[in-house]
Parts: sequence; structure tokens; C-alpha cells
Amino acid sequence: MRQSQRGARLAIARARCQSARVNNDAAPARPRRFLPSGPLRGTIRVPGDKSISHRSIMLGALAVGETRVSGLLEGEDVLATAAAMRAMGASVLRQAQDDRGNAEWIIHGVGVGALLQPQAPLDMGNSGTSTRLLMGVLASHAITAQFVGDASLSSRPMGRVIEPLSRMGAAFEASEGARLPLTLRGAWPAVPIEYRLPVASAQVKSAILLAGLNTAGITTVIEPVPTRDHSERMLRGFGADLTVEIVNGERVIRIVGEAELKPQTIEVPGDPSSAAFFIVAALIVPGSELLIENVGLNPTRAGLVTVLRQMGGSIEELNPREVGGEPVADLLVKHSALRGVEVDPALAPSMIDEFPVLFVAAAMAQGTTVTSGLEELRVKESDRLSAMAAALTGAGARVTEQADGLTIEGTGGEQLRGSANSRTKTHLDHRIAMSMAIAGLASRDGVEVDDTRPIATSFPMFEALLDGLAS
Ligand code: S3P
Repeated sequence: MRQSQRGARLAIARARCQSARVNNDAAPARPRRFLPSGPLRGTIRVPGDKSISHRSIMLGALAVGETRVSGLLEGEDVLATAAAMRAMGASVLRQAQDDRGNAEWIIHGVGVGALLQPQAPLDMGNSGTSTRLLMGVLASHAITAQFVGDASLSSRPMGRVIEPLSRMGAAFEASEGARLPLTLRGAWPAVPIEYRLPVASAQVKSAILLAGLNTAGITTVIEPVPTRDHSERMLRGFGADLTVEIVNGERVIRIVGEAELKPQTIEVPGDPSSAAFFIVAALIVPGSELLIENVGLNPTRAGLVTVLRQMGGSIEELNPREVGGEPVADLLVKHSALRGVEVDPALAPSMIDEFPVLFVAAAMAQGTTVTSGLEELRVKESDRLSAMAAALTGAGARVTEQADGLTIEGTGGEQLRGSANSRTKTHLDHRIAMSMAIAGLASRDGVEVDDTRPIATSFPMFEALLDGLAS
């Protein structure tokens, strides 16, 4: 185990050296074949939570004074948020803490309402969270900004935030289909609204709440289906007057503007969406026993663990504690004979980013796994239903695609065939690339992924960690 950790550290250092930001539209693709693996054993840590990292930088930049953040995810998406906040006047600096890559991020905020006009378009890269949340922040500032992104981001719908933010007074000139590139003209003063979310989206909820920060009066979001609640927890932590009430089974969230945010010291817990790949890897590779430390287990994010346990997965929570106001535990995961299940669509928001890798687990289970209510997966970094149906079918799995889900007949624990002669198309989607890498570990011929570059958006050291474990 010690050797595997040393190997992982070396590979991480190598990955860091190569981690200059890539423009995935211009640089050449980086294909890779992920080979069958022996047992995965040892102890690992996954990087900081992406959602919490974005919010730490945004709220730090909107507080007056110094916010310190440890455990920040240093993926391209979060770096896009950092660059945007710098372009609008905040100071966002990385301070190395040791030679193992740990760092503290120091943010000097400008205060709600005091962001500066950016002098160039805000490049959001691949990041939907940066785009939608920052559109919210800027909607109530007297700022005009252009948002641009890569091919994947430029195909994603922004109408879901344009609509409520327009009601607050912001104006938008978007590309066809309410997509990027778009220009936002913020409104100051903006108008507080009451808005019932038509789609279960934490990004839309957060955009409105962030717009509410600089809007005099009470901005209200009604959430019929609960989604991740990091914005609510963190806004309150930064001192905003925010309340949550359950009325007729719906969450009613109210924020009072104009708010004054107080700087915070934040420890970002490990990202359950990144841990997901290693949880599934350990479950499907025979002989594996993996301890994944410091995994965030906020109930609005923990749906995958619930479903994998229903499938018979052995996932033990050790040392439960609180980190940065979020429930956290170390997860001990052991190889398990998985059974197919019907996944309750009500769980979807709490595992929305984990379906690609759940589909991999389902492909190795005994019997049929049925998923439904997943239309949202079609508008993520790629159309994740069709991308995973094609990728898994190419690797020998039996998959049927429906409008709102996949039905998968598992192998009953047998290795997948893999893809000896074809390349999995990842469509600039980090989670498709990582999910199929995990499928490769449990395949006969390995799985070739057409491009590993997008992995750096959320999990720059994924390959290094995997290479340190897989033998
Ligand atoms: C996120 C919310 C989710 C998720 C995304 C991050 C967030 O999107 O898919 O990766 O940080 O708020 P939706 O809220 O649009 O489902």
C-alpha cells in the first residue's frame, strides 16, 4: 500500500506539471486505453468538492475582507471561477502549504455590489456551474459581461437562468437557443422575485439566490424537489439573512438583500462525485478493498451510496464527522456481488452527476437495472444518456436507451468485453471519460477513451490516483 501511495504521489506531481490550462477546443485530443486491473487496495483521498469550491471563491469575492480556503478543488472549472472573480476586482491567490501539493487559497473580497466591470469576456471553459452562478451574481450588479465557453458549454441551455434573472431586471443577448456566447447586462437596482423552480436545478436556485444578495428586499425561491443545498448552507455561513421553510412539502428559501457578507475560513470536504468513480471501481474489481478518506456525505449528494447499497454494495462509513459545515466520513468499500435494481427517480437530484458511473456498476450487476426520470442528463456536459448507452454498448454491455433513462442487463459479475477496436466517444465530458476508465478496469480487453483532457475540469489527479492503485 505504501508503494501504491508513493506511486500515486509521483504521478500526481507529474500530472501537476502538465496541468497548464488546456483549451479543449484547440489542443490535440489525448486518447488512452484503460486496461483491466487487479484488486484495488489501499487508502486514497479525493480532491475537494467542486460545488463547494466554486461557491467558496464566489462568496469570498463578495465578502469584505480575507477568506481562507483549504482543500479547494484545483480543477479547470474552479480555476475559471477564480479567474472571473479576479477579472471583476477580487484578489484570489494560491499559497502553497507543503511539497505534497496542499495549498490554501486566500481571497480578498470587494463586497456585495462592488464588483468591477470585466475588461474582457469571461471564459467559463467547460463549466456550467461557473456560468450559471456568475450570471446570477452579475444580474444584480451594474455590469455588462460577455460569457464564453468551450463547445460543450456552448451547447447547453441557459434559458433556465435567463428567464428568472430577466424578471429581476437583467437583460441578455444570447446565441440561438439561449446559449453561449451571451452578453448579460446586470440591473441595479434589481427587483426581488418569488420563483418556483420548473426544473430541479441547484444551479438555477443558486443563481437566483446570488442575484438576491444585491437586491433590496426579499428574493424567494420555491423548490418543489430538493437539490444540493450548499448555497443555502454557505450563504448563511457567510452571514446572509437566509431562511428555509417547508410549506406543503416544498422548500421555500428566502434571502434578504442587500446583504453584507463576512469573510470565512473554509475547509472543503472531499467531493462525493469524484469519490463515486473509486467507489464503483472497488465494488466491481474482484478482490478490492479501498478506504476513501474525507468524503462529503451531505444527504442532498449521497444518493449513489444509497443505490449501490440497495444493489448489495459493501460501503461502510467510518469516522463520521463534520467538515466545513458538511457531514463527512471515510468510506471503506469492498468488492461485492451487485444486483440490478429499479432506481427510485426521486433520488435523481441527490446523485445527478453519478449516473454515468452507476451505469457502469449496473453493467456488471446480476439482473436488470432500470432508471427513469433522468431527462436532465441530456443537458449536462454531454447528453449523458446517449453517450453512456453508446459507450457501454461499445464495451459489450446490454443497454436500452429510453427518453428519460437507461435499462441495463448486467453481466452478473463477469468482465465486460471491453473495446478492442473502437474508441469511446467522451464528447468533452469528464464524467463519461472517468466512468469508462472504470469500466476498462473490469473489462477483458480494456476500454479506449478518445480524450482524457476533460478529466482535468473536475479531477486533475484522477489518472494518477488510478495508476497508483491499479496493478
Ligand atoms: C451543481 C449542480 C448540478 C450538477 C453540477 C453542479 C452545482 O447541476 O450537475 O455538476 O454546483 O450547483 P443542476 O443543478 O443544473 O442539476
